[in-house]
Amino acid sequence: MQQKNLLVMALIVSFGIVACGKDGGKSTGGDKAGANGKMIEFVTTQDGKPMEIKPELFDTPAAKEFAATGKNPYIGQQDAIDKGKKLFQMYSCTQCHGGDAQGQTGPSLHGPNFRYAKDATNKGMFETIWHGTNGGMGAKGKGLMDPTDPNNGLVPDEVLKIQAWVRTHGSTTGNE
Ligand code: HEC
Repeated sequence: MQQKNLLVMALIVSFGIVACGKDGGKSTGGDKAGANGKMIEFVTTQDGKPMEIKPELFDTPAAKEFAATGKNPYIGQQDAIDKGKKLFQMYSCTQCHGGDAQGQTGPSLHGPNFRYAKDATNKGMFETIWHGTNGGMGAKGKGLMDPTDPNNGLVPDEVLKIQAWVRTHGSTTGNE
């Protein structure tokens, strides 16, 4: 029993080190998502608790970079911005946030002031879109958006493209 507890502790500690990126590039926790096999720690917007996102969902170079750094490489990339705009329509974000993300029943996403201050950063906004809020914003992440269908929902790469489009309306990029 004692030994088991120690093992659990050791696992938690090594995960923590990986999440903080202080392991000098050597992953010991098994998360191989990021560019160097490192993955930052994502937390929910609801209560700031760690949230698990399957590493394999970060399946493009941009998504891997984001998983490792929290920076969105698609910011300012016209191709990604165009795709993001389409996804914003496809996933009905427009229905609540308006065709230009200017706000409708849901709030404007233009910033610089957000309901959740962390949404000024791309990591923070990603977490809000992925896992939702307690105030009417549903989770859009794959497997979360539609509990009856684990294949339905946005993948990280798509969230990053949506974000690239959303950020074209504001004065900050979210990568500051
Ligand atoms: C059913 C309506 C609805 C849909 C569809 C919806 N949202 Fe929301 N969204 C909301 C509401 C309501 C809030 C405010 C939540 C709160 O105050 O907790 C919100 C909040 C947000 C926020 C946080 C804004 C802030 O000020 O911090 C972001 C980002 C966001 N939504 C993005 C999206 C994206 C991207 C999509 C599409 C993938 C989407 N939403 C779809 C209703 C919706």
